[in-house]
Amino acid sequence: MLRDLVFVNAAQVVTCAGPARARKGKEMREAGILTNTAVAVSNGKIATLGKASDLQHAYSDAEVVDCKGGVLTPGLVDSHTHAVFGKPRFEEHELRAEGLDYMEIAKRGGGIHASVRDFRGRSEDELYALAVPRLKELASYGTTTLEIKSGYGLSLEDELKALRVIGRLADHLPMRIVPTWLGAHEIPHEFRGSEERRREFIDLLINSLLPKVVEQGIARFADAFCEPGVFTIEETREILGASRKAGLGIKIHADELKPCGGAELAASLGAISADHLAAISESGIAALAKSNTVATLLPGTMLFLGKAKQAPARALIDAGAAVALASDFNPGTSPTVNFPLMLTLGVSQLRMSLAETLTAATVNGAAAVGLARETGQIATGFAADLTLFAIADVRELPYWYGARLCVGSWRAGAPCHPYETGSNLNSRPPEVVPTG
Ligand code: NIG
Ligand code: FE
Repeated sequence: MLRDLVFVNAAQVVTCAGPARARKGKEMREAGILTNTAVAVSNGKIATLGKASDLQHAYSDAEVVDCKGGVLTPGLVDSHTHAVFGKPRFEEHELRAEGLDYMEIAKRGGGIHASVRDFRGRSEDELYALAVPRLKELASYGTTTLEIKSGYGLSLEDELKALRVIGRLADHLPMRIVPTWLGAHEIPHEFRGSEERRREFIDLLINSLLPKVVEQGIARFADAFCEPGVFTIEETREILGASRKAGLGIKIHADELKPCGGAELAASLGAISADHLAAISESGIAALAKSNTVATLLPGTMLFLGKAKQAPARALIDAGAAVALASDFNPGTSPTVNFPLMLTLGVSQLRMSLAETLTAATVNGAAAVGLARETGQIATGFAADLTLFAIADVRELPYWYGARLCVGSWRAGAPCHPYETGSNLNSRPPEVVPTG
């Protein structure tokens, strides 16, 4: 039986409370930062917020969690990752520095193809065992919900294997894990070389894989990498249109490197999110602003690829779109599990306000994985998904960039990243002491 909890002594409680849907445009400015507030959790849900003494009295049997002057936020929601993979791809990092770009590396058999070759040679158990410590590390930065995509299998058996691994992780790890089928991540080598073979792969996705994914209930969303040189707009429409008809929600890797109308397609298909968007067009911005599709921005990817151009977060928010931030954790373009670093990039590179980054990493992330009614805010009735940071002011969260400030997290009132009650909440980076 789950114990009730009362969180006391937080310097700030960031609630992000409000409607149980993505916050659009100006709505993103309100993060709900409270002081002198305690939080009561009962049966895994947020029961009420109020004065510590009142809540301790009302929940006299509850375990008291001393936040020791830290900041309590909704558990962070990382709505875009490719966290199940085999070997890392550090050799490509230097190749890019020498001038080979991402697409050129892919053309030479590297990039996604390299991960696919490696993935196919590994067993389900091995992939699971590789993912567990990576995801524990990810949780240690404050993420309590994450989406994970398949997409390094790209054959019938290997895509199902990927989704089974994601399912096992969801069953055994404390985080909420949302599975996405990204069968349309790339055209694998054995289907390249002619238009007929390409068509056969798309037929395999739609006619063989999709029915199995749906029948086995192992994915909630379908995704496709819609990009010149990967899947065209027409192919993406066909694959995702069929996926939607079969009952899956839709996500799109859209306008990542070159604009091709991916954002407009996402809006017209009623996609839950359009992701990347560094090369989105004016009409794409307008289409997303009018839609309920969340614009999920992945600033770590552009940073790591060494691209000068980040997604136009300001234009998107100012036009009225809902923006989420995510890590894109994957071995090729964003090998980081540090989600708070995306908030840093949100402020420094995307010119988002602190409140906008907090909204983007909580409620809007939750909306981008279909969980806006369950998680992403500290408000009565929501799951008690909470993260405690060793900072006295939430502005420090994006400020101490690269630091691990999370000291504990909870999913539905149960420990997610374990909180040592004795842990030192003064673990902030030391102040720089001037010498001489
Ligand atoms: O989101 N853009 C396509 N997919 C991934 C990269 C995958 C990889 O390079 O392994 C992304 O950046
Ligand atoms: Fe991605």
